[in-house]
Amino acid sequence: MDASEFDCWMRAELDAVERALQRWVSADAPAGLGDAMRYGVLDGGKRLRPLLVLAACEAAAGDRNAALRASVAVELIHAYSLIHDDMPCMDNDVLRRGKPTVHVQFGEAQAMLAGDAMQALAFEVLTPAASDADAFAPALQARLCGLLARAAGHEGMAGGQAIDLASIGRPLDERQLRDMHRRKTGALLQASVLMGAACGELPLKGWEALSQYGAAIGLAFQVVDDILDVTQESETLGKTAGKDEHLNKPTYVSVLGLDGARKQAQTLRERAQAALASGGLRHTARLSWLADLVVDRTC
Ligand code: IPE
Ligand code: IPE
Ligand code: MG
Ligand code: MG
Ligand code: MG
Repeated sequence: MDASEFDCWMRAELDAVERALQRWVSADAPAGLGDAMRYGVLDGGKRLRPLLVLAACEAAAGDRNAALRASVAVELIHAYSLIHDDMPCMDNDVLRRGKPTVHVQFGEAQAMLAGDAMQALAFEVLTPAASDADAFAPALQARLCGLLARAAGHEGMAGGQAIDLASIGRPLDERQLRDMHRRKTGALLQASVLMGAACGELPLKGWEALSQYGAAIGLAFQVVDDILDVTQESETLGKTAGKDEHLNKPTYVSVLGLDGARKQAQTLRERAQAALASGGLRHTARLSWLADLVVDRTC
């Protein structure tokens, strides 16, 4: 697959994800809550997690309808985590996806509730009724809910965010830093891959290869986020640059230096590509391009 083919696939999938999000996140929620939810999740963001779900589903020759719902669910959890991450009690940020953050626009209470409602909505999306046109088996619904819940909760994102806040001003060693990054960011990216894979049938070897791939790009993603925080401008990032140093957060850059962090990102890219090659799966070209995108991105 060449770059233009990948690009074409990506544009079509981004469009499908956007339409699905538009449909699912309705403005109908009471007292302006729907507006805050839509503001937080629509029209912005790279949608990398949904793309991973859809590409992994293809690698597993899986159920496209289930994967599209899974891609919406993962993006809802991710967008909720960003809304809360930006609140004054966490990173206290005013810019996200090139716009004022949700709490700046709608107030803190509404931002908190928008995040809460988006988290619940993610699991609603994963559990279609038997009468829905795009319904899928209850066993797959439960599996997808389990994968997402574990990645979002104390073992994953929420636990990692707790470590992040408890580590302000504290020098972490590389092992502790890796553990924090794996949880706060890696877990949801790995879950994106596994949820896509779960929509199909894979032999154990293929499943394990995708799991290793997901772990490698998941960690790489946050290493690169740490790098971009010091190398890019706020305008390019759509969020405040230089935030980690300002908040005195331990990051791959503060612990390994910029060159060390860049080397680490390359090592993780190679690990991801090697894992993909080891799985005996046929349709992994898109996942391979996505691994490169994770490491080479500039925002
Ligand atoms: C930012 O995630 C927060 C991290 C987990 C590092 P993204 O860089 O994927 O943010 P969007 O979705 O593109 O805005
Ligand atoms: C956030 O990490 C990870 C989340 C779980 C939201 P950061 O705090 O570094 O993310 P940004 O840089 O604000 O996007
Ligand atoms: Mg943070
Ligand atoms: Mg932050
Ligand atoms: Mg960051």
